[in-house]
Amino acid sequence: MEKKIVLLPGDGIGKEIMESAKKVLAAIESEYHHRFILQECAIGGDALDRYGVPLPDDTLHACNEADAVLLGSVGGPKWDNQPPEFRPEKGLLGIRKGLGLFANLRPVKTFPALLHASPLKEEIVKDSDMMIVRELTGGLYFGEPSERRNNGEDVVDTLAYSRHEIERIVEKGFESAQIRNKHLTSVDKANVLESSRVWREIVNEKATDYPDVKVEHLLVDAAAMKLITNPSGFDVVVTENLFGDILSDEASVLTGSLGMLPSASVRTDGLGMYEPVHGSAPDIAGKGIANPIGMILSTALMLEYSLGMQEEAKAIESAVMDCLEQGYHTADLKIKDGKQMSTDEITEAIIENLTTKCISDSICSSYV
Ligand code: IPM
Ligand code: MN
Repeated sequence: MEKKIVLLPGDGIGKEIMESAKKVLAAIESEYHHRFILQECAIGGDALDRYGVPLPDDTLHACNEADAVLLGSVGGPKWDNQPPEFRPEKGLLGIRKGLGLFANLRPVKTFPALLHASPLKEEIVKDSDMMIVRELTGGLYFGEPSERRNNGEDVVDTLAYSRHEIERIVEKGFESAQIRNKHLTSVDKANVLESSRVWREIVNEKATDYPDVKVEHLLVDAAAMKLITNPSGFDVVVTENLFGDILSDEASVLTGSLGMLPSASVRTDGLGMYEPVHGSAPDIAGKGIANPIGMILSTALMLEYSLGMQEEAKAIESAVMDCLEQGYHTADLKIKDGKQMSTDEITEAIIENLTTKCISDSICSSYV
C-alpha cells in the first residue's frame, strides 16, 4: 500500500521521538512492502519561531490532504509568556478543530514488566485495561465567549455543546465498548451542570441502539476516585473535553510511565492524528534520553485506525512488549536487572524485535 503521512515533530522531545517513529515506519515499509510518503510540517513553538504563528495554513492544508498525521509534542517555557493566540498549545487546539478531530481515544493498559513502577499497589492496578474516549473539539475549550470583562474584574468561559456533537462522541464510546468488553462508563457532572444532564439523556437514548453494551453513569468526582481505587473496573469511559483531559492524565500515570502511552484523535472518515500522551518534556529535550515508546505505539495506532494495517500494528506492539520483557528501558523507567538505553538504542532494540519476528513468522511477506 502507498500512504501519505504528515509528520509534525513540534517542540522539545517531539523532534527526537519523531526520529524513532520514522525508523519504525521505514522498518514496516521494508518488512511489509508498503510505501509511506512522509511530509514534515511545522506546528507549535517551532512554527511560531519559523513562521510567527502556531499553526501555519500550509500545515493544516497538508494534514487535510494526508491519510494520517503523526504529532510529537508542543509547548515549552520559551513561549510561556506569549499572549494566548501565540502560544504553542493554540496550534494543537487549532489543528484538532481545523481537521474536525472530535474523538480522542486514549488506551491505558498496564505493562507487566512495569507494574512495580505504578504509584498504586500492584494488586489494584494489575488488570487495568481501559479506553478513554474524550470529546475533543467542543466544551469549555472552544465555547464563546471566553474573555475577561470589566478591566479583568470579571471573567467568563463557556461550556457549550450541540446535540450533534454529543451524539457523535457518545456513539464513538458505544462503538469502542462493542469491540472491547461491552461496558461503557459515561462521566459527567449531572448533579450540577445542565450540559451534563443533556449528555446523560443522550447516552440513555443511544443505549437502546447498543443493547449488548452495559451502561453506567458516574459523576466526574466519583470517577476520579474510582480511577485510583478500582481502575480495573473500567472498560470504556466516554466524557466531555475538560473532564477527559483531566481523567486521561490521571489514568495515564497508573501504568508506571507517562512515556508509554499513545493516543488517537479521529473523525468519521478515518483521518486521524496520532500523538503520545506525554508533553514536550523541555527538561530532557536534546539529551537523547527521551522514551520513544509512546510515540512508537502512537505510530502503531495510526497503522491500525487510519491506514488499515492491523497486522503491522500488532507487530509493533509486540516488539515493544518483547523489548520491555528483555529488560530494555529508558531513564524514566526502572526495570529490575534491566538495561538502561538511550532513545536511539531502544528504538533499534524495538526494530530488531520487529524484524526478527517478521522473519520468524514469515507472515509479513504475504502483505504485499
Ligand atoms: C492534552 C494536553 C492539551 C489539552 C493541552 C496541551 C492543550 O493537555 O492533549 O491532553 O489540554 O488537550
Ligand atoms: Mn492533558
